[in-house]
Amino acid sequence: MEKVRLGLIGCGGRMGAHTSKFDQIPEIEVVAVADPIEERRNAVAKQFGCKAIYKNHTELLDNAKGNIDALIIAVDPTAHDDMELRAAEMGIPFLVEKPMSVDLELCERVLKAVKEKNLITAVGFQDRYQDLTDIMMEKIKTHRPGGLVYGSWIGGIPGVWWWQKKEYCAGQLVEQNIHLLDMLRYFYGEPLSVYATATTGMITAGVDCSPEYDTDDHSTAVLRFENNVTATLVSGCYVKPKTGANPRKGLYISMDDIVIDYRLRNNLILFENGITTDIPRKADQVLELNKAFIHAVMTGDRSVIRSDYDDAMKTLRLAFAANKSMETGEVIHFNK
Ligand SMILES: NC(=O)c1ccc[n+]([C@@H]2O[C@H](COP(=O)([O-])OP(=O)(O)OC[C@H]3O[C@@H](n4cnc5c(N)ncnc54)[C@H](O)[C@@H]3O)[C@@H](O)[C@H]2O)c1
Repeated sequence: MEKVRLGLIGCGGRMGAHTSKFDQIPEIEVVAVADPIEERRNAVAKQFGCKAIYKNHTELLDNAKGNIDALIIAVDPTAHDDMELRAAEMGIPFLVEKPMSVDLELCERVLKAVKEKNLITAVGFQDRYQDLTDIMMEKIKTHRPGGLVYGSWIGGIPGVWWWQKKEYCAGQLVEQNIHLLDMLRYFYGEPLSVYATATTGMITAGVDCSPEYDTDDHSTAVLRFENNVTATLVSGCYVKPKTGANPRKGLYISMDDIVIDYRLRNNLILFENGITTDIPRKADQVLELNKAFIHAVMTGDRSVIRSDYDDAMKTLRLAFAANKSMETGEVIHFNK
């Protein structure tokens, strides 16, 4: 295979992040695009000189046989419908954005189908592809385990319409802070337990945001891992953007002889042996994610994919377990 004939499902904001890297991946040929919003699908089709333009994933997949080698899927979290199931049935590898859906049961069915076909998949946990993540992993693995981790993602309400209602986005932890949750799993493995709380009341629906807003203003999850690691992961969307308040996003990892201060997708500050080192991010993780997926499709070598559907499901289940804890007030214990 010299080129990967790519179909794009969803032409919104996130697909733009993927397509902006395609000029650096000459093996990609965009052959089909789909989006219910006419201007969006036409704009992406024009950008790549693509003639097959569809109103939705159904039309695109109806015409995919023999024409499409792989898919990128970036739709709103409630819109996944049967797109991954059909792709699996047709044996078409896909890169899908996180969260793979707000319907966990649907995702379990997709996982089963993907496994049955031994399909190549990738999920958009972009942070795994950073050089900074590799450095953190190396430090965590080579120092004595144990310690406290503080993770935070506090900001304003993202601009997409579907963020305003919890039934559409499943809350900030599932929709957004799932990136840091996934990094915790990447570094520390499967957790022993999670306990989480959430609150509303800081944001006034209809004043600070759309009248239908009903998601959590902030939440806190406490996760216990093996080797005496406990992580507190806070999520907040209550910050008013115009005030200039900009709380830090990232991970702060305190071990007994090193402190790792990861500033989300920007830099990493290490405090080690009396020396402070500030390392800026070099790798373009969205480019690396796309390159890994295309390489896997072309060669069959999946080793470069850092989060496939199977692994991503473990993060998604964990995020939903935290949501359950928020609702019930109970600690969720996981069987090892
Ligand atoms: N990995 C990351 O860092 C990252 C960042 C931002 C968003 N995301 C994720 O990407 C996904 C999309 O987010 P977004 O910001 O692009 O949302 P968006 O609303 O900007 O775009 C989604 C697009 O999907 C289209 N769509 C809906 N149903 C469709 C269908 N059946 N067929 C084809 N197109 C369809 C919509 O019309 C819309 O244009 C979400 O799951 C989001 O969480 C990931």
